[in-house]
Amino acid sequence: MNQDQMKKAAAEAAIAYVEPGMVVGVGTGSTANHFIDLLAEIRDRIDGTVASSEASAQRLRGHGIQVMDLNAAGQLPLYVDGADESNRELHLIKGGGGALTREKIVAAASDRFVCIADESKLVDVLGAFPLPVEVIPMARAYVVRELVRLGGQPVLREGFITDNGNVILDVHNLQISDPTDMERRINQLAGVVTVGIFAQRPADVLILGGADGVRKLEPR
Ligand code: 5RP
Repeated sequence: MNQDQMKKAAAEAAIAYVEPGMVVGVGTGSTANHFIDLLAEIRDRIDGTVASSEASAQRLRGHGIQVMDLNAAGQLPLYVDGADESNRELHLIKGGGGALTREKIVAAASDRFVCIADESKLVDVLGAFPLPVEVIPMARAYVVRELVRLGGQPVLREGFITDNGNVILDVHNLQISDPTDMERRINQLAGVVTVGIFAQRPADVLILGGADGVRKLEPR
């Protein structure tokens, strides 16, 4: 099984969490795209979706799946999304696709967050994947200085603007031993919209696709 087949296997397992009449929160990225394509097969059984990015909204609509505004949908029973890294507490790094802010909003507004990934995403300590931080453009240089003070090496994601009109700094070389504390510290910096650490609201279930099939982890 290659990595993409592992992602697809995880997405297939997540379909079991979708119940009739649900409005489903849908994430962003190649693993979430597999989930969207599978959701299309059962679209008549759900009431609609809320998307965490314009790209996912477009893919959902392309399948004839209704996409709703989160304000109209209210609290969601289920959110399914990928991740760039997860530790065994199901604290995540997200935002490799740049959709971290809307992803964090939809995750916060959902009762259950099912994370889907291939097994390479499971790590002991978060931070080998450069940590995405969405920043208001005028604050970029200030936030770079503050992130360096925290021990990181921020790099501007060239040629990329988020769905919210902001820039992304990818922070290298951070050893995130206390994800909840690091999430709080970076979120407190003026000009930071969202940091891609999902620890205050971790995933509830992690479905990992691997060479031997899928396995499910819950926070230890
Ligand atoms: C997008 C994300 C994605 O979930 C993350 O980048 C994983 O992507 P993929 O499923 O393509 O490996 O956070 O902002």
